[in-house]
Amino acid sequence: MKRFVLAAIAAVALGGAAYADTIKVGVIGPFSGPFALQGKNFKAGIDAYMAMNGKKVGNDEVEVIYRDLPAADPAQSKSLAQELVVKEKVQYLAGFYFTPDAMAVTPILKQANVPMVIFNAATSAIVTKSPFVVRTSFTTWQTSTPIAKVAYDAGVKKVISVVSDYGPGVDAENAFKAGFEKQGGQVVQAIRMPLSTNDFSPIMQRIKDSGAQGVFAFLPSGPTTLGFVKAYNENGLKTAGIKLFAPGDLTQESDLPALGDAALGMQTTFHYAISHDSPENKAFVAAAGKAIGNPAELTFPAVGAFDGMHVIYKMIEATGGKQDAQKAVDAVKGLSWVSPRGPVSIDPESRHITQNIYLREVAKGADGKYYNKEIQTFEKQGDPGLAAAK
Ligand code: PHB
Repeated sequence: MKRFVLAAIAAVALGGAAYADTIKVGVIGPFSGPFALQGKNFKAGIDAYMAMNGKKVGNDEVEVIYRDLPAADPAQSKSLAQELVVKEKVQYLAGFYFTPDAMAVTPILKQANVPMVIFNAATSAIVTKSPFVVRTSFTTWQTSTPIAKVAYDAGVKKVISVVSDYGPGVDAENAFKAGFEKQGGQVVQAIRMPLSTNDFSPIMQRIKDSGAQGVFAFLPSGPTTLGFVKAYNENGLKTAGIKLFAPGDLTQESDLPALGDAALGMQTTFHYAISHDSPENKAFVAAAGKAIGNPAELTFPAVGAFDGMHVIYKMIEATGGKQDAQKAVDAVKGLSWVSPRGPVSIDPESRHITQNIYLREVAKGADGKYYNKEIQTFEKQGDPGLAAAK
C-alpha cells in the first residue's frame, strides 16, 4: 500500500504519465513485391481497428511496427521477428501471410515471452507448434471442407485436385478428399505444384486429360490465384463443363475486375466476403476502405488483421500492459465477439477462430461491380484439420 502511494505521488509528480507505456506490436507481412496488396490489407485492417477503437488501451499507447517480408521466406521471417523482439522490444508479434513464415517464428515465442497473433497463415498445425499462437484468419481445412459437399451436391462425382505444394495446399487437398469421399465422391488424381508455378497451361491440359468432371483447387491469394483462374477460363475448361470448386482465396474481391464475366457464377466457400450484410461489416468496410484509399483493393487479410487487433487489445487490457505472454493468451481463450465476418470466438483448446463459413457465388451488382454473393451459411465451424495435425 505504501509503495502504491509513493508510486502514485511519483506519477503525479511526473504529470500523471508514469503509468502510461507504449506497447509495441510487430507486424510481419508482404508490403512490397507481388503480394504487396495482401500486406496493404493487413495495414488497412489495423488502421481501421485503431481508427474505430482508439490507439490507447487503458493508459497505454499502442504502436505498430511493420517489417516487410515480400515472399515466403522462413529464415528472413525468423530474423525479422528476433530483431523486433530484441531491438524494438515488441510485446506482440502479428501478421504472417504465408505459413512457412509463421512456422519459423513459433520456436522463439516462449523464450521471448511474446504471443503471436496470426492474421492469415492457414495451415492447421501452426497452432500446435507453440501455446502462444492465436489465429484470427481461417484454415484451409475449415474453408475447403464445406466445398466438398457443395461439389457433390452439384452432381459432380469425380474430381481432380490441384494445390500449391506446401502446408495450406496439402491441408486443402486432404480436407477436400476427406469431405468428398464421405459424400461418396472420388478424387481421381491429386496434383501438387510448386509454389512458384506461374504457367498453368500444362496443368490445365492434365485436368482435361484426367476425365474428371470437376477440379478442386487451392493456391495462396495473389497473382498466383488470378493466373490460375484465368488459365482455367482461357484454356477452355469452363466451356468444356469442368466445374471449378475452391475456397475463396481464388476469388478474392480485388481480383474480380481482372477475371471479369468469365468468373460469374463461380462458387467458393470462405469465412469472409466484403459484401457481408451486417452493421458491423458496413462500419468495417467504411473504415478499412478509407484506410486503404481505394476500396476496390479491399480483400480478406484486412478482416484477419482487424480481428487480430481486437484480440491484441484484449490481451493488453488483461495484462494491464505488462509483458506476460501466458496471461495474455489465457485471457482470450473463449473470447467471443461479432466480427465484420459474423459471430466468432477463440476456441480455448486450439486458440484458432471458430466462425461461419459461407458459400458464395461471383455475381455482378446493379452498379456493374463484381462481388462474392453469400448464398448459404455453414454455421460455427471449428477447425476440422486439428485432429489431422496432431
Ligand atoms: C498460407 O501460406 O498459409 C496462405 C497464404 C495465402 C492464402 C491462404 C493461406 O490465401
